[in-house]
Amino acid sequence: MPPSPPASRRWSTATTADRAVGLGVSTRTRGAYEPDLPTGADKTAKVRSMFDTIAPRYDLVNRVMTLGLDQGWRRTTVNALALAPGMVVLDLACGTGDLSTMANRRGYRTIGADLSWGMLAANRTGEPALQCDAANLALADRSIDGIVCGYALRNFTDLAGSLREAARVLRPGGRIAVLEVAAPPRGLMRNGHRIWFERVVPVLGALLSDADAYRYLPRSTAYLPSDVGLRRLFLDAGFSTVGRRLLHGGLSQLITATRAGLPEPPDTRAAR
Ligand SMILES: C[S@@+](CC[C@H](N)C(=O)[O-])C[C@H]1O[C@@H](n2cnc3c(N)ncnc32)[C@H](O)[C@@H]1O
Repeated sequence: MPPSPPASRRWSTATTADRAVGLGVSTRTRGAYEPDLPTGADKTAKVRSMFDTIAPRYDLVNRVMTLGLDQGWRRTTVNALALAPGMVVLDLACGTGDLSTMANRRGYRTIGADLSWGMLAANRTGEPALQCDAANLALADRSIDGIVCGYALRNFTDLAGSLREAARVLRPGGRIAVLEVAAPPRGLMRNGHRIWFERVVPVLGALLSDADAYRYLPRSTAYLPSDVGLRRLFLDAGFSTVGRRLLHGGLSQLITATRAGLPEPPDTRAAR
């Protein structure tokens, strides 16, 4: 068995087996090879129009490119909330609503939110959904018990602001479970994954849906902060007990956290 990472790199509440496979995320050095990726308003516009375009065949391509494994990862994500049935769960960047469907099956009431009208139009869950940016949710403070978010972090233009919004709408003690792409940390699996994700997926996407969008998909991992940086963002946004697990040896990752108590008002802090 490979050695566990040093204690300084362990920020997860993951199992020993999860730790043993390491903590690497990206298949490439973030940002370094992707100087032309859009940022700011250009990124928001590109992401929205890309998802509008691919919405009709989004589910099909997902099943093909993950060989159906994504459904199990989604189930694990919903289970990680571990809330009581009847609680209200926000499916953040819900897209076509796969996570909402699983959350409904587990007895949660769901509400979706997504930037892309095309994705919301392809959402057949029948559950309420809002068209809005994750960084500006049209929801009241502390009105939500749990949040699930699938494969969307790297698409957010304002990731830190979106995590702060998630913390704002969650009640203290509420839970968040975020599913994201990852890469196996080492060995044959890492090489096989790289070939699949960077060479095969763009071809499958071009055949089944839209070539530009599925060329962009592997490149968009460059937006993901390092594992440590991502943990910092969750903590700074107001979450505690931040944990991370690699799924299927690192084909995806699951980040979980709990909404900490409300931050002190700034004047209380200044008075100390
Ligand atoms: C890869 S899809 C994932 C959809 C769904 N969560 C799933 O698991 O299949 C990413 C989704 O994030 C949405 N999205 C991207 N940027 C967003 C933003 N700033 N605010 C809200 N939704 C956003 C996209 O419209 C798209 O539906």
